[in-house]
Amino acid sequence: HVAPLKNKYKESFSIGAAVEPFQLEGKSGEVLKRHYSSIVAENVMKPISIQPEEGEFNFEEADKIVEFAREHDMDLRFHTLTWHSQVPDWFFQDEDGNSMLNEEDPQKREENKELLLERLENHIKTVVTRYKDDVDAWDVVNEAIADGQPNERGLRENQWYQIAGVDYIKTAFETARKYAGEDAMLYINDYNTEVESKRTNLYNLVKDLLDEGVPIDGVGHQSHIQLGWPSIDDMRTSYNMFADLGLDNQITELDVSIYGWPPSGEYNTYDEIPEEVLEQQADRYNDLFNLYEELDDKISNVTFWGIADNHTWLDNRAANYSDDGKGKDAPFVFDPDYKVKRAYWELITD
Ligand code: G3I
Repeated sequence: HVAPLKNKYKESFSIGAAVEPFQLEGKSGEVLKRHYSSIVAENVMKPISIQPEEGEFNFEEADKIVEFAREHDMDLRFHTLTWHSQVPDWFFQDEDGNSMLNEEDPQKREENKELLLERLENHIKTVVTRYKDDVDAWDVVNEAIADGQPNERGLRENQWYQIAGVDYIKTAFETARKYAGEDAMLYINDYNTEVESKRTNLYNLVKDLLDEGVPIDGVGHQSHIQLGWPSIDDMRTSYNMFADLGLDNQITELDVSIYGWPPSGEYNTYDEIPEEVLEQQADRYNDLFNLYEELDDKISNVTFWGIADNHTWLDNRAANYSDDGKGKDAPFVFDPDYKVKRAYWELITD
């Protein structure tokens, strides 16, 4: 029975984990209750899970997570009201079932845009109305910034953008505010927010939107990072930039891959990972949490994108990139048996 992580940081920020509903039970559920003070759904609150067909809402799996948070007095992050991935195709089909993306007639394109924004409003209204009393932080828009510079503002040219332009972002935030209320905390969430080009594009977008009165309260920094990248200085710069705009920061999907980029996937089981790599990871976690504590008035939540090394999306990623289609990653502070790793000790000791 090691000391709970959440207690160590309770004066600074809540400590979260992303979960699938099956992880609420058994050993993972125990670890969750003991060490974490916040949860977020890894998948079941995404549009494809909640509204797979137009008008057919499915809240069963999402409700399990909401109830768990309620029962154990945990914070709840909602992920995510909009995204280009895990969103059903019907959103982007016109009334004849044709893809809106292919429409060339300007008049019809305008009608399609209206229809898409109406669907977006309806989705957000239904979800937010149901969960507004339970959710502490909403990911309203996820991954709106491109990795390159496809257009002047560096916005990702996803289906939403191609059909509705930047209005999809405005509509999403305005609708969330309308139904969640003035006190709700609304976030724009993205990865690589520390990288100079991307953080600049994100900053400029958020600044423009705030100037126009669009209700954004904070930036979610996913933080899918590596042992040596990005630098702590780049992270500090990014969090300070957004705080200077008057916004909150949350670390929303933290994991520290043991691989570089692209991931080699060279270890196929946890036991094959050299001690030295786990030591480097512990040092990295130490540096990260020192930074988060240094800026604790600017960061309100730190969420890991999983509980322990037995369940992480990074295993799929490692396998996909490796030559033999295998690969094990180990990004967290609990090992595949929920035992504490070196990284845990770095976080728990002063
Ligand atoms: O539910 C289906 C199942 O019915 C089917 O048999 C199986 C076959 O592949 O797929 C299952 O869906 C998978 C889903 O996770 C639920 O397990 C999808 O294939 C798989 O692609 C999906 O991956 C999720 C991914 O988002 C989707 O892009 C990961 O679990 C999830 O960790 C990941 O999370 C994202 C954040 O939302 C946004 N930021 C990046 C982060 C990591 O990619």
